[in-house]
Amino acid sequence: MKVGGTLRVPGDKSISHRSLMLAALGDGRARISRILESADVHSTASVLRALGARVPELASDIVVDGVGLHGLRAPSTDLDCGNSGTTTRLMAGIVAALPIAARFVGDASLSRRPMRRVAKPLEAMGAHFALPSHGGLPMIVNGGALKDLVWRSEVASAQVKSAILLAGVVGGVRVTLEEPAPTRDHTERMLGARGIDIVRRGTRVDLAPGHTCMESIDTVVPGDPSSAAFFAGLAALAEEGELTLLDVCVNETRTGFFDTLKQMGTEVEFARDHLSGGEWISPITVRPGALRGVRVGGEIVPSMIDELPLLSCLATRAEGETVITGAAELRVKESDRIAAVVQNLRSIGADATELEDGMRIVGSRKQLRGSVVTHGDHRLAMSFGVLGALPGNDIHIDDRECVAVSYPSFWSDLARVTGG
Ligand code: S3P
Repeated sequence: MKVGGTLRVPGDKSISHRSLMLAALGDGRARISRILESADVHSTASVLRALGARVPELASDIVVDGVGLHGLRAPSTDLDCGNSGTTTRLMAGIVAALPIAARFVGDASLSRRPMRRVAKPLEAMGAHFALPSHGGLPMIVNGGALKDLVWRSEVASAQVKSAILLAGVVGGVRVTLEEPAPTRDHTERMLGARGIDIVRRGTRVDLAPGHTCMESIDTVVPGDPSSAAFFAGLAALAEEGELTLLDVCVNETRTGFFDTLKQMGTEVEFARDHLSGGEWISPITVRPGALRGVRVGGEIVPSMIDELPLLSCLATRAEGETVITGAAELRVKESDRIAAVVQNLRSIGADATELEDGMRIVGSRKQLRGSVVTHGDHRLAMSFGVLGALPGNDIHIDDRECVAVSYPSFWSDLARVTGG
């Protein structure tokens, strides 16, 4: 298989969610360009609308008139977050700081995901939560006046960190936060760019108290590195050619996968010399190379957490063994991504073993054939979609439509890049 040309992947999902939330809470008018128009971001837009924000229908260029930090109102309906953990947890932080109550609901996958991790710190700030015994959704949040928080997070989660910071900004209180490992820092960067006094040093974040308003600024959403990863992975497995992914966000809290791909023997080029809207943006060029197995664990894990299912699929084509550890968080994503990836890899004929906090894959050249059960998980569908695009493999994916969560045009982009 040969790859060639260029591809512009859709806007970054994390930045898209945050650009809507911050524009809604801003003091003026904000233009958002190249926002990701996917199901998850639609969930954030409709939750914000249910709270009285002036968010138009999503399009490649939208204008949001902010209602101010305290302008959101009590909803008259449940807040339906669909499949989106980011919507639920970040919006829970915002609601926690307002004198309103809201009931968060979602689809079957989201309803099983752990919400106590945000309820605990937000309760420590003074909000009230009611959760079912399994700790998922439906979740009722009763917000109100908050107090300062000093918090040492047990999980490396940007969603938990962001929920606390958004509560702190809206509530006007001081937050001192420590995470076990650095996670994506878009919230800190975006708040700082909007005039909020916030400092991040490694795993520590300090938010100053007393904010009563936030500036509205325009955002051009950069390409999503987690979406670009699928095509970088495909190019790595090709026999020849070169693929360039345009305008990708290369924030170092997001590029662990690309660094790992290099370590495995692929040529990957990008630079951190162009800042736009407070984020590093670069083309990423990938050329195929014989892949070697790799060990992934420790602090790099959060910077490639969403790419680990893809890495596991690529590892089936690498020489030797790939071992992923320290990634127990994968078990509480849109599906149990350790169990689901390993079961699917085995059912298409690959050598894969589950570990409590990761997995072990032994690569080979054999053709992979069989059916994949995605459990409605978009990243599973796309990871196995990359393997299925390789000549000789024959992989049936049960639910191709679930890519709509983060990358609606994935299959047509895949067909274009592979000349299909
Ligand atoms: C996200 C944080 C990560 C990531 C998710 C998006 C964000 O989740 O997996 O896709 O936008 O903050 P966790 O915070 O649960 O690790």
